[in-house]
Amino acid sequence: MIDKIQIRESLPNDLSSIEELYPNAFPDEDLLPLVRELLREQAIILSLVGIADKALAGHVMFTTCSIAGRTDKVALLGPLAVAPAWQRRGIGSALVRAGLQRLENARTNQVYVLGDPAYYRRFGFEPDDGVTPPYPLPEEWHAAWQSLSLRRNAPPLHGRLSVPRPWRRQALWAP
Ligand SMILES: CC(C)(COP(=O)(O)OP(=O)(O)OC[C@H]1O[C@@H](n2cnc3c(N)ncnc32)[C@H](O)[C@@H]1OP(=O)(O)O)[C@@H](O)C(=O)NCCC(=O)NCCS
Repeated sequence: MIDKIQIRESLPNDLSSIEELYPNAFPDEDLLPLVRELLREQAIILSLVGIADKALAGHVMFTTCSIAGRTDKVALLGPLAVAPAWQRRGIGSALVRAGLQRLENARTNQVYVLGDPAYYRRFGFEPDDGVTPPYPLPEEWHAAWQSLSLRRNAPPLHGRLSVPRPWRRQALWAP
């Protein structure tokens, strides 16, 4: 863990550091087109950066989504990246927790994520069978589709998650 991580909303000036971060954190995956498109959708995203030693060490995004026929405010977490030199020092967790707190303050009911349950369960995420992802997932990814309720005693949601355009690419939902 490091003592001082500053978490704040990303600024236009952060773009070049964000563009450097993703290929380093995900050498086998090109998430930059998604990140760039999401950053253009300021009205529906929350984009947070983690600053350590005055450098951009991590980034997380949350996108406002919806469930057909429901008015519940829901969000999708991702992508999340921490620079290799800064991994396993609490920056990823700090980014996720800060984002969840902001979403809770903004009365978001439920947050979805497609990711490793071994990582996301620490925040309270659990596999979700009620709301299906926008594209069918391969069987081996079933447990990776998870959600977290930000509202106590909220009734379970059912339906399919409807995502905005940047997320409507099947490749983002397949191995
Ligand atoms: C996954 C990632 C975002 C975690 O951020 P981080 O700042 O390194 O993680 P934190 O320091 O907050 O948490 C560290 C804990 O997560 C665990 N962890 C880290 N990466 C993990 C992973 N891919 N799967 C499972 N657990 C993981 C560590 O073992 C550690 O556990 P501990 O607290 O019990 O010791 C970061 O390592 C990363 O960007 N990795 C490369 C890109 C990637 O795989 N992203 C996946 C996001 S779905």
